[in-house]
Amino acid sequence: MQFYKSNIFLVAWLVLAAYCLAEQSYEIINERMESYPGLQETRVIADNLKIVGRERSMNGTLIFLDDCDNEHYKFDIKLYSDPNDDGNFKLLPMGVPRMPMCDGLRTYYVQVVQPSLTYGVNTNLPHIPAEGLCPLPKDEYYLKNLLLDTDTWPNQIPRGLLKAKMTIFKDDIDVGAGALVMKITDPK
Ligand SMILES: *[C@@H]1O[C@H](CO)[C@@H](O)[C@H](O)[C@H]1NC(C)=O
Repeated sequence: MQFYKSNIFLVAWLVLAAYCLAEQSYEIINERMESYPGLQETRVIADNLKIVGRERSMNGTLIFLDDCDNEHYKFDIKLYSDPNDDGNFKLLPMGVPRMPMCDGLRTYYVQVVQPSLTYGVNTNLPHIPAEGLCPLPKDEYYLKNLLLDTDTWPNQIPRGLLKAKMTIFKDDIDVGAGALVMKITDPK
């Protein structure tokens, strides 16, 4: 009887542990930042962003040379996985489809990035209210020792290197892109 009871506890504990692990069973470490020039001209410059320090946070500046309105400017976010860390990145069927700048910022940026930002502390990017902000004014924006809060990210993401690349388009022509490469591992 004693044995039977302790087995029940063991099973219950395992189920609970499995449930907790399924919640978010990975660790994310920032690996590097990448920047890409535009096709004909570069209007968004991300080449001064770097991963710094022991915490591997994002640091540097992001320059928008134009006011980015909803009519001429769009962006998309593509996700790539390199499971074996051998430079072989494959496009994943996730991400953000190309959409007008202000709509996209209001929908995705506000949910995914903005919770990690505090105006005047780790960035001078303007706070975007629920109703949106348009245009995003041209400026040199800083990110200071920024670590993204990933609590709201999906439960399952592939292990290995994960690249999130944001490309900006002006009248549907690529005018610059930046990417964050992260290493996804199982918890130790
Ligand atoms: C962080 O970025 C700022 C602005 O570009 C720079 O002055 C500073 O030296 C950077 N810090 C580190 C640790 O690289």
